[in-house]
Amino acid sequence: MTANNNPLGLTGIDFTEFASPDSGFMHDVFLEFGFSKLKKFKGKDIVYYKQNDIHFLLNNEKKGFTADFVKSHGPAIASMGWRVKDADYAFETAVKRGAKPADDVAKDLPYPAIYGIGDSLIYFIDRYQPGNAIWDTEFADLPEPIIVEDKGFLRIDHLTNNVYKGTMETWANFYTEVFGFTEVRYFDIKGSKTALLSYALQSPCGNFCIPINEGKDDNNNQIDEYLDVYNGPGVQHLAFLTDDLVKSCDLLDANKIDTLDIGDDYYQNVFQRVPFVKEDKKRIQEHQILVDSQADNTYLLQIFTKNLFGPIFIELIQREGDNGFGEGNFQALFDSIERDQERRGVI
Ligand SMILES: [Fe+2]
Repeated sequence: MTANNNPLGLTGIDFTEFASPDSGFMHDVFLEFGFSKLKKFKGKDIVYYKQNDIHFLLNNEKKGFTADFVKSHGPAIASMGWRVKDADYAFETAVKRGAKPADDVAKDLPYPAIYGIGDSLIYFIDRYQPGNAIWDTEFADLPEPIIVEDKGFLRIDHLTNNVYKGTMETWANFYTEVFGFTEVRYFDIKGSKTALLSYALQSPCGNFCIPINEGKDDNNNQIDEYLDVYNGPGVQHLAFLTDDLVKSCDLLDANKIDTLDIGDDYYQNVFQRVPFVKEDKKRIQEHQILVDSQADNTYLLQIFTKNLFGPIFIELIQREGDNGFGEGNFQALFDSIERDQERRGVI
């Protein structure tokens, strides 16, 4: 990888920092998804949860950047830590390339950071190897950790941003010009009453993607509804990668993690479209898992929760050689969310 196409030396996602007026609910959801509560940032009420290579922080501080962020957004993703080869170099280079430095705010964590989507923060983290990670030095073991069963979630596959109409290009430029992301896909999706546009960008390290959505027309489409509820642009969903989605779904309690309702007609033709799925088709339908394929003998399985943290939801995804986002399902999903919006009287 040359300096030109990966100017900041980005290597992946390190952590996602959550906060909420109801952090007890977030805690319960993390445990249900199979994240163990292990550590706490020394001197602050910032708790660390882990499952395989997914690292979550739950910030309960009453003051500081994240507390202020929650005041304006409600349940939120206030920051992410992105892995780089050299954090100071990445920070300086990002600022030179047009990013806004976050050295003027009461950051909760002592790492160099820039402003990202919706004025959340992106921290640069260069210590993430086991034994030399920030968790090993700046975080202390909890006297009473809560260890829960791993549910097979391995790492964050992608995160999706929702932005205001007319600003998708600006945000795409932020990711491409500052970090060296490249555009991999473009979508135009229409429901019966509403529509949206989506760009998908891939990180220069190839380890994660960021699709960006903006709504079309002024009809309270699902993106505009998110922007109203969240009070600005931000993360719409995070996708957890698993290598056995049926098993992960078996392990999740459907009474605690509610997923989108998929029309029965979906399963009448999806296995004709994607006949080479290896998993038990009955089990896929029982869990209401979605199936998609971009090419022969490659496919992905995915499932989406309903909104979990304010308007933020979670996707669970298994990839069998397919590196799309479930394009063939966009219509089914869009229709499902639109039906839900109609039920709620929003559109
Ligand atoms: Fe997704």
